[in-house]
Amino acid sequence: MSSGLVGTKSACLPRPAERGKGHTSSPARLTVKEIFDLVRGDLEKVEQELTLQSLDAIQPVAQIGHYLQSSGGKRLRPALLLLSSKFCGYSGDAAIRLAAVMELIHTATLVHDDVIDKAETRRGRASINHRWGNHLSVLAGDWFYMQAFSVALRERNFRILDLLIGLTQAMVEGELLQLQCLGKADLTEDEYFDLAYRKTACLFSACLRIGALLGSRSEEEENKLGNYGLNLGLAFQLVDDILDFTSSEAKLGKPVGSDLREGKATLPFVYLLKRLPEHDVHRVAKAFERGDFQTAVPPEILELAKQVGALSKVRERAMDFAQQAKRCLEGFPSSPYHEALLSLPDFIVERES
Ligand code: IPE
Ligand code: IPE
Ligand code: MG
Ligand code: MG
Repeated sequence: MSSGLVGTKSACLPRPAERGKGHTSSPARLTVKEIFDLVRGDLEKVEQELTLQSLDAIQPVAQIGHYLQSSGGKRLRPALLLLSSKFCGYSGDAAIRLAAVMELIHTATLVHDDVIDKAETRRGRASINHRWGNHLSVLAGDWFYMQAFSVALRERNFRILDLLIGLTQAMVEGELLQLQCLGKADLTEDEYFDLAYRKTACLFSACLRIGALLGSRSEEEENKLGNYGLNLGLAFQLVDDILDFTSSEAKLGKPVGSDLREGKATLPFVYLLKRLPEHDVHRVAKAFERGDFQTAVPPEILELAKQVGALSKVRERAMDFAQQAKRCLEGFPSSPYHEALLSLPDFIVERES
């Protein structure tokens, strides 16, 4: 694979942190608002850029673009790219355009993902496939991918293009592997992390790397930031999987228990089966594999995951990745952006939506 991002996988796949050892001496933690305030003005410009991108499209893609943009979303990936570029001393407009590119790529994967998962709700509203149907959703997703690449191409930066192509392939591979693993109750931890790495962590990592590339930082610094992004992305996915067990549709904007119903074994489920008594393992695994939930209904499975401590174990793992992310920032000079990046992992672990 040509991408530096995918090529560095084995070198930078995070290990769980050893608790109590080597903690980064961090300054006072910033709040989420303070973190986002640092890039608030630029995020507004990213929104303007996204609006412009949809205007280029023919109907109904323009309409879908407008619907997606007005549905909200946390804008975490553009914020990460902007924070990283400022952290690396870059202050030009390319960061705005590339932050919009990352949000476009993210959105395109969500549109395709909802087709594959037959999801009816996203960001608290009808999903694109539910409202416009599968055919239009696939084509609109393709259009957003190509729009993202067309904007990125304007920067004439092969290193960034290489990164984006490797990233998009990794994300598609993540979806493909996930499809192959549907209904697989005996998913291993390694298989789970391989999926999470491709479908979520790579995108986070690329946002951080692009910031470093814009700031013309050394390869070593780019790798450190890329590893920060990987660890942050894995923590984010673990928490997403916990929230699928514990949250509510009102908070998440998508139904809880979706992973189970869609046949996706996530880490909470893997740990649940490891901890259940044997007769329950058979019952729960059978319900999941068949997808009929006759031998155990989803609310019971969610409750069991809490009872056996599977969810708290996953939360510990997420905290380890968050800690590992912070360690990747050691050796960089302190600045408000450094503080923001150091504070973000805690917010990711504590998030409720
Ligand atoms: C959803 O990402 C996809 C996952 C990686 C779980 P977000 O939760 O960041 O989605 P939005 O953009 O805020 O809707
Ligand atoms: C999210 O995958 C899509 C990508 C990260 C490519 P999921 O299917 O696990 O996420 P949700 O639950 O639909 O947001
Ligand atoms: Mg999905
Ligand atoms: Mg999910």
